Amino acid sequence: MRIIKLNAINSTNSYLRKLSTEDGVEDFTTVVAKHQTHGRGQMGTVWNSESSKNLTFSVFKDVSELHIEHAFYISMVTSLALIKALQSFSIPKLSIKWPNDILSEDKKICGILIENVIKQSSLKASIIGIGLNINQTEFIDLPRASSLKILTGKTFNLDEVLHIVLKHLKEYLKLLKKDKHDILKDEYETYLFRKDKPSTFQDTEGTVFSGFIKNVSVSGNLQVLLEDNIVKEFDLKDITLLY
Ligand code: BTN
Repeated sequence: MRIIKLNAINSTNSYLRKLSTEDGVEDFTTVVAKHQTHGRGQMGTVWNSESSKNLTFSVFKDVSELHIEHAFYISMVTSLALIKALQSFSIPKLSIKWPNDILSEDKKICGILIENVIKQSSLKASIIGIGLNINQTEFIDLPRASSLKILTGKTFNLDEVLHIVLKHLKEYLKLLKKDKHDILKDEYETYLFRKDKPSTFQDTEGTVFSGFIKNVSVSGNLQVLLEDNIVKEFDLKDITLLY
């Protein structure tokens, strides 16, 4: 496994994508940066992270050998790998806010941005980008953000955390290779934030509505029980889970 360590880069996801298209990269090549000048989040958002305090890294995963029908499985195993890694550091009350924010005590400690490499209309590889808040203790204008240090009072060694996350990611990807799809989906659902609880959502037109989170579909849609007792599936592009 190759780990490329950089001091500063625009975005580890963008760097790894460029590297994979220009030079080709070995499976599981990982790029970690102390600082990202243009860290990217989901849905075109910005990912800010205090330089050298947190982990910002991306992993190149060749998925051609995995026989997965839905790219969402990559998101699922990445979330589960982070949960396992964080449990090993005794991080309390972990959950996965659909589709793949990792929360502790209802605050976000990790964001995941998965970008797919598609060739001839089939999924060839995924670039798994992870931003894990570790030793940063102030999040200005982000009241719902937290870090491992805030939660435990301890300072963490970034390399150690990185290796543990990568170890769990490899293990979960192996399960995916062994076709343990149902087991993985069940496990993902046990960590689903606000499952069976009343939640509030916003659609793309700004309409706010409520419902109960029931499950996720194999393609990663969120299944919500609405007021009229109907379960409706929503794509990530269509709704935001507010709380
Ligand atoms: C989100 O929650 O919106 C996803 C955030 C993902 C951030 C990580 S940091 C490493 C990698 N490089 C990026 O530009 N983004 C991801």
